[in-house]
Amino acid sequence: MGKDVIVACDFSSKADVMNFLDKFNGEGRKPFVKIGMELFYAEGPQIVKEIKERGHKIFLDLKLHDIPNTVKKSMAVLSGLDVDMTNLHASGTIAMMEAALEGLTRPDGSRPILIAVTQLTSTSQERMTNDLLINEPIDKVVMHYAHNAKLAGLDGVVCSPLEAGKVHETCGNDFVTVTPGVRFADGDIGDQVRVMTPAEAKKIGSDYIVVGRPITAAADPVAAYNRCVAEFVD
Ligand code: C5P
Repeated sequence: MGKDVIVACDFSSKADVMNFLDKFNGEGRKPFVKIGMELFYAEGPQIVKEIKERGHKIFLDLKLHDIPNTVKKSMAVLSGLDVDMTNLHASGTIAMMEAALEGLTRPDGSRPILIAVTQLTSTSQERMTNDLLINEPIDKVVMHYAHNAKLAGLDGVVCSPLEAGKVHETCGNDFVTVTPGVRFADGDIGDQVRVMTPAEAKKIGSDYIVVGRPITAAADPVAAYNRCVAEFVD
């Protein structure tokens, strides 16, 4: 699986995202783009088609979680949008993840990369224990869910770059780690807590880094993107 920098396009309108992507028109590398719920719910499937037509790969971050049959049918729809990567919640169970893979697979056997969210980073140990009644340490739960995703045949998980090494140890080096929480050494951390630079994420074995504000809010987004690529991919 090739290493790449995925730009989190956390914009809430088509005008804003297109204005941002216009900066990348021209000769250079076209960023792999993450489209989240906010933009997808605001603009609908058409936004995926339009960004795809501009030559970008797309990670559609909708984190599906429902009964297996519903997830299977929904995944078939997302696969038809020709996205390159999408995701679901591993807490939906192995049966749900297997159904998702089935739905995602196109008649010709091809399919987008499918990755799982284990526990959201907003879920603390305390919330998991008290609200969800899961009585195990959170890092054990994360690794167990990653292992379930592997058993179901998924390609990988979203995790902190700090967990990428452990995930590879547990699930194998081919199991993809997609890691947000990336910041430049001389940049703003913002609301992220545990961060790594692109170079550190590369060293620890992340396969894809997801970078939002260090690129989208930079004075020169193309230069910031190229810096990520230089540190992480090249
Ligand atoms: O702007 P920033 O680089 O913090 O954006 C990171 C992106 O990764 C956002 O789209 C955020 O929702 C997403 N993400 C995250 N932490 C996770 C999972 C996803 O920051 N555990």
